[in-house]
Amino acid sequence: MKDRINVGIIGFGTVGSGAARILINNADIIKRRLGIPVVLKKMADLDIKKDRGIKLDKDVLTTDAAKILDDPDIDIVIELIGGYEPAKSFILKAIERGKCVVTSNKALLAVHGEEIFHIAASKGVDIGFEGSVGGGIPIIRILKEGLAANNILSIYGIINGTSNYILTKMTNEGRAFGDVLSEAQRLGYAEADLTFDIEGIDSAHKLTILTTLAFGTPVKFDNIYTEGITRITPLDIEYAKEFGYKIKLLAISKMDNGQIEARVHPTMVPNEYLISTVEGVFNAIYVAGDAVGDTMYYGRGAGDMPTGSAITSDIIEIARNIITNSVGRVPPPAFQLKERKELKIKKMDDIVCPFYLRFMAMDRPSVLSKISGILGEHNISIASMIQKGRKEDGAVSVVMMTHEAKEKDVQGALAKIDKLPVIADKTMFIRVEGEV
Ligand code: HSE
Repeated sequence: MKDRINVGIIGFGTVGSGAARILINNADIIKRRLGIPVVLKKMADLDIKKDRGIKLDKDVLTTDAAKILDDPDIDIVIELIGGYEPAKSFILKAIERGKCVVTSNKALLAVHGEEIFHIAASKGVDIGFEGSVGGGIPIIRILKEGLAANNILSIYGIINGTSNYILTKMTNEGRAFGDVLSEAQRLGYAEADLTFDIEGIDSAHKLTILTTLAFGTPVKFDNIYTEGITRITPLDIEYAKEFGYKIKLLAISKMDNGQIEARVHPTMVPNEYLISTVEGVFNAIYVAGDAVGDTMYYGRGAGDMPTGSAITSDIIEIARNIITNSVGRVPPPAFQLKERKELKIKKMDDIVCPFYLRFMAMDRPSVLSKISGILGEHNISIASMIQKGRKEDGAVSVVMMTHEAKEKDVQGALAKIDKLPVIADKTMFIRVEGEV
């Protein structure tokens, strides 16, 4: 019987500091839950001089990750440096040496997760990645265990705090996108490359992981349609309000007749949907299952302590598996690898939903009939319409909500409408959730 679980953390950044702080400050509660202590034996970072406000013994800190990977006494390696390399090599080396791994590296898992899961299975080690999606919200464990009895039907997530913060400020304070951008960055939640947040890439990384777990299928990150929030203007936010909606960057994944819809894009969500009330850097994930019905999970989606909480929960789970000789008890992708099925991701062209359309049209007779004529030719039916203002140059906003329409039809119609001489600017479109 082991008398302790030794862990080594690679990466003493924001998330690494959170995990270390929790392992030290909550050592007692962790020991009481586990029966034996978890010991932070080594912590590696290129910069070990910086004061992170955490007291560690001198011999714990090292600049050399190999001191963790090569230490036969370390049971669990925690990779918190992010990015593809050297993170992937560190993880594979740890697995090769029979060590279990914890990581919150969503980009790495979205792109190389399949390879890592298969190698881990062949070596009989556990991989924990609770911190990769939703920060402190235990959504990975919910999909792997809490909802294991269900056929998952759909997932709708606000899983990027930075873009939700920007949209919230634009909505509540009427500020422009560029105005709020640097403020969001100052909060410290943004990715090293901010385009990952505002172009939807971070959400798509996370949706790749959630979809893989929910539907028991290997999902390729590249197959997820990804659109960010940079096109959204205060004008559209105002019109959305008039129609009774909020604009949110949603990550959507659902099962539809044996195919999966998996997409990230700004979405108009009815005010009465709980997820439309999620503000600031908070995350929320709605999951529907055939047995459980509707469920929703809410919490801090980023930050040192929430993500540290998720990482430490993985350490505790894996430690329990080590103690009880049951490593591999729950397969990392939530299904037995050999039981998974290759499911097709539906083409974006085939997606069906209501659309918000904002045309910038010259205020002249017959403009509306031209627009509605083209929409009609493409099987798009208008549910409601607003026309506002008259600019000096004569262009006005003509805003419509359509009934459910096929993406391909909408894109085809807009391509034609945008070529009309009476259209002054590219038409804005936003996909809509719920019945119009
Ligand atoms: N950049 C991410 C966000 C951090 O804003 O949500 C958490 O994954």
